[in-house]
Formats: sequence, structure tokens, C-alpha cells
Amino acid sequence: MKVPVAVIVLSLTVALGSVAVAADVQHGKALYETRCTSCHSIEYPAAGPAHKGLFGRKAGSSPGYTYSSALKDSKVVWSAETLDKWLSGPEAFIPGQKMYISIPDAAERADIIAYLALATKR
Ligand code: HEC
Repeated sequence: MKVPVAVIVLSLTVALGSVAVAADVQHGKALYETRCTSCHSIEYPAAGPAHKGLFGRKAGSSPGYTYSSALKDSKVVWSAETLDKWLSGPEAFIPGQKMYISIPDAAERADIIAYLALATKR
């Protein structure tokens, strides 16, 4: 499905509230490729779970991947807001999880989330 980028950017800007940035999908794609693909892909599980269908899915529920019990047992559902919290600091958000990287820069997080909103839609 093709979703106009402007619509996604607008809804993300609203969803993230205090994060006063306009997300840049192309920059988000570049960041995803350099910061995430060592462990993740959209399509297939690897060191980390596959990201397809991410938005609206319960955390820890992508098939074919063995999650930490912390993530699997969490009540988190992935949205722009929960992804922003997760990427700010996975361990602070869901203690006991096993993803050991974070993206401290709010603008970079917004760009990555905007890219994911487009790329994971299936
Ligand atoms: C060093 C490896 C590594 C890198 C790099 C990494 N992750 Fe992860 N990620 C993981 C692991 C491992 C998990 C599973 C965590 C668990 O089970 O507790 C995970 C889980 C996730 C989840 C939860 C998915 C689900 O199905 O519930 C999201 C979302 C996520 N990562 C996004 C990202 C993004 C976006 C990036 C890049 C900014 C990234 N990750 C970079 C290893 C990584």
C-alpha cells in the first residue's frame, strides 16, 4: 500500500508531541541501514526480530524469533510513541530486555520511526 509521506510525517509529529521535529524518511532509511541492520531486517529474523508489521503489533510477537521474557511478557504495543521510548533507552523502558543499543538523539529517532512506519507496512 502506498501512503503519502506527508500524512505519515504529520501524524508522527502529532504522536510524538514534545518532539518538535519534522521527520525525514530518507534520513531515517540511512540511519536504519547504518544503526539497525547489523541485527535486524524488515523481512527476516536475525540477531534481532524482523520488523515487518511492527506498528500495532504487541512487542515480542514476531514469529521465528526467541525474545527475552521481559519483552515477550510486556504489555507494550508498538506505535510511534512506544518506539520513541524504546529507542531512547530499551532497558529503561522494558527492564530485562536484550537490545543493547539506543538512539539518544530525538530527531534521529523521529526519522527512524518515520522510515519504519512506511517500510514495515505489510
Ligand atoms: C546489536 C544488535 C541490535 C541492534 C544494532 C538493534 N537492535 Fe533492535 N533488537 C535487538 C534484539 C536482540 C531485540 C530483542 C530484544 C528482546 O527480546 O528483549 C531487538 C528488538 C527490537 C524491537 C522490538 C521488536 C518486536 O518484535 O517486539 C524493535 C522495535 C527494535 N529492536 C528496533 C531497533 C531499531 C529501530 C534499531 C536501530 C536504531 C535496532 N533495533 C538496533 C538487537 C538489536
